[in-house]
Amino acid sequence: MAEGVQIYSGATDKGLEGVVACTTGVSSIQDNTLSFRGFTIEDLAENSTFEEVTFLLWNDRLPNSSELKEFKNELSKNMVIDENFFQVLKQIPTQKVHPMAWLRTSVSLLSHWDVQAQDNSETANRSKGIRLVAQMGLLVCAFEAIRNGKPMPQPNKDKSLAWNFMYLLHGGVEPKTEHVKIFDLCLILHADHELNCSAFATRVTTSSLSDLHSAMVSALGALKGPLHGGANEAVMVMLKRIGTIEKAKQFVQDALQAKEKVMGIGHRVYKNGDPRAAILRKLSQKLTLDMGEPQWYQISTLIDETMFKEKGLMPNVDFYSATVYYSLKIPVDLYTPIFAVSRISGWIAHAMEQYANNRIYRPRGQWVGKKDQKWTPIEKRNT
Ligand code: ACO
Repeated sequence: MAEGVQIYSGATDKGLEGVVACTTGVSSIQDNTLSFRGFTIEDLAENSTFEEVTFLLWNDRLPNSSELKEFKNELSKNMVIDENFFQVLKQIPTQKVHPMAWLRTSVSLLSHWDVQAQDNSETANRSKGIRLVAQMGLLVCAFEAIRNGKPMPQPNKDKSLAWNFMYLLHGGVEPKTEHVKIFDLCLILHADHELNCSAFATRVTTSSLSDLHSAMVSALGALKGPLHGGANEAVMVMLKRIGTIEKAKQFVQDALQAKEKVMGIGHRVYKNGDPRAAILRKLSQKLTLDMGEPQWYQISTLIDETMFKEKGLMPNVDFYSATVYYSLKIPVDLYTPIFAVSRISGWIAHAMEQYANNRIYRPRGQWVGKKDQKWTPIEKRNT
């Protein structure tokens, strides 16, 4: 935009609502329907796997069977944490540190072990992308092992990313097939989401022609916040605080009265409900019942209904994913890192798209500060 070109103000000043910041063929939200590369999320949730969805996001088409086999092989081969790197990971504090902060640091460190870290060619980015997707879940499980002073089990290279995540997280206990399927579905649902805050952060960093790991670190920083990926953890903390169904309605009314946000509710784009939340709601109902703790689903639905009645707002992806993860015995502070384990596939797709058709992001700020200030020597300043 040249100087003198009209600058947006007013409604676009906060949060860029309604602003189209780039063209993209990765994922779209149209008429309340979420699609990855033209496939609806419902179709992918029903039929696909996380590995296949990652291939789709990066290649703009579904793989044939030999391509999928090869892609999975590549991921499996890279499901490994270098021993020297692991020793360094052990030095990063894990107590009184949010796992997302730990993960952000670890991904940044990981680049020092990647011989292609500074290579921005498409071939290198694909190879780095494979390594990052394969290792992201391992990093989260390494955090869990390190903070509990336990050894990290070896991944099983014949199994999927979802299977390995559940297996490693739970100290080498074989996960139930049904739980692996559900976790894989969660990974699919979170894999991408148009120009959300962290995808935008990815694209902004990529647009300076910085490297892929740096773009992932930017994205992780953006995802960490409670208004974005951090909300899933906040939902479970809220449910625990409420504790019983009798207290749920009052909790919401008090929060609204105090003008506090109810976590996991509302969305900038979806005004008629997040399609991912509809899928997760069913899973939450089943899993909390199977676990013998249906109160978490019951409290959730009461909040959901009260928020709709009071504010016309509906749950987003983070709302029912909280109780799904809780039922899968995942520690509450790992919910947002799990989001990253999945969303990294989408971030990489956005980075690839940005590199392929780049122009640096450089918007303008509308000046609202002081004007015509005059320098005062320090000894003459009163304030
Ligand atoms: N609880 C209470 N009120 C809410 C909520 C909520 N969760 N969400 C929106 N509102 C209200 C606001 O107070 C505001 O009301 P007002 O007009 O009376 O002042 C109105 O709805 C608009 O809210 P904004 O915050 O301006 O909406 P925005 O589009 O900027 O934000 C967001 C969307 C961040 C998702 C918001 O709904 C929110 O903070 N939700 C809770 C956090 C959350 O769940 N984040 C995860 C989002 S999904 C994801 O990123 C993976």
